[in-house]
Amino acid sequence: MSTPNRKKRKSRKKQKQILHFLLLTALFFCLLLGILLILRHSSAPETRTVQEFVVETETIPETESETIPETESETVPETTEEETLPPGMVSGITLSFYHVHLHEDDDPVMPRVFMQPEDAIDISEIWSSSDETVAIVDENGTITPENPGNCTICVTSAMNPAVSAAVMVTVYSKEEALPVPEQICSPFSEEDNTRNDIQVIGGITYVQGVMLVNKTYSLPADYHPDGLTPETSEAFSALRHAASDEAGLRLFSESDFRSYRTQVYLYESYCNRDGKEAADRFSARPGHSEHQTGMVIDVNWAGDAFNDTEEAVWLEKNCWRFGFIVRFPREKEAFTGYKYESWHIRYVGEDWAKKIYDSGLCLEEYFHVSSRYS
Ligand code: DAL
Ligand code: ZN
Repeated sequence: MSTPNRKKRKSRKKQKQILHFLLLTALFFCLLLGILLILRHSSAPETRTVQEFVVETETIPETESETIPETESETVPETTEEETLPPGMVSGITLSFYHVHLHEDDDPVMPRVFMQPEDAIDISEIWSSSDETVAIVDENGTITPENPGNCTICVTSAMNPAVSAAVMVTVYSKEEALPVPEQICSPFSEEDNTRNDIQVIGGITYVQGVMLVNKTYSLPADYHPDGLTPETSEAFSALRHAASDEAGLRLFSESDFRSYRTQVYLYESYCNRDGKEAADRFSARPGHSEHQTGMVIDVNWAGDAFNDTEEAVWLEKNCWRFGFIVRFPREKEAFTGYKYESWHIRYVGEDWAKKIYDSGLCLEEYFHVSSRYS
């Protein structure tokens, strides 16, 4: 009797031991799994979708006032992949303006597009509108207002869809007045007749003997020196040789003397394209362009793509040695009336050029004269 009972007890004990073993093993594997999951989560690389990347690289500059350069960029959009992009790949897009206010019946407008680098293999653009009931855009970037409202017109590089830029469009009804853009005008009041350092001879204004042409002071329509003045031409030739000998840079004239008639054509075409207010920030009205003096040269490339190039930096540091000044320096728009133009140099003679350069002032500040259309 006792033997079967003992056997039974033994068998129950064994069963219990097996159950314990199984429970412990299961617990061990659960723990192991938990640890593995925690480790995997904490060391997983950050995965980002293409969509996220596209959003990050979009360039929507915060411009309250319009940014309209002659051929320009203000902002070179950054791409996080810039260093690793293959040669010839589009790395950024700059527009001639980023915000436009239009009436619903206004003519279409078209921002100028600059893809970086300049020698990109394929600079095809893809345009889209966030709301075609407000404004539509064609494949060339022509923006046509449709109905009052706001929308964003986006341009993307066909070659590198991660690179894009956008224009904010605000369309107003015919009855509504367009907002007045931020006034940019000279802090100097218009000169009175009491200044004896300003002379007007034959309709041409001189300040301390320097010919003065800006938004306040114009030239007669028939003032026509037949190209660059001999001094300007000679000085520019010396400047070019120095740039080549000292820095191995090739500088040349992209545009120099312009007649009154040429300026009429240029200014009108910019107004038609960008509107008068915008054009007035980078193009002179006929009679008000220094190009008509025969003492101005636009060097290499008249557009923001020239800003910060080796050539522009050299020009800024050295042109005074040859009698030139960078006429519309950075951050002097309130005085000059024009946005920064690194390429536009004006011959004033070596003495004045050195004085003005050393002062760090622009011509209007140096001579205390206004530049403002009446
Ligand atoms: N771009 C300068 C202001 C001119 O048109 O003369
Ligand atoms: Zn110019």
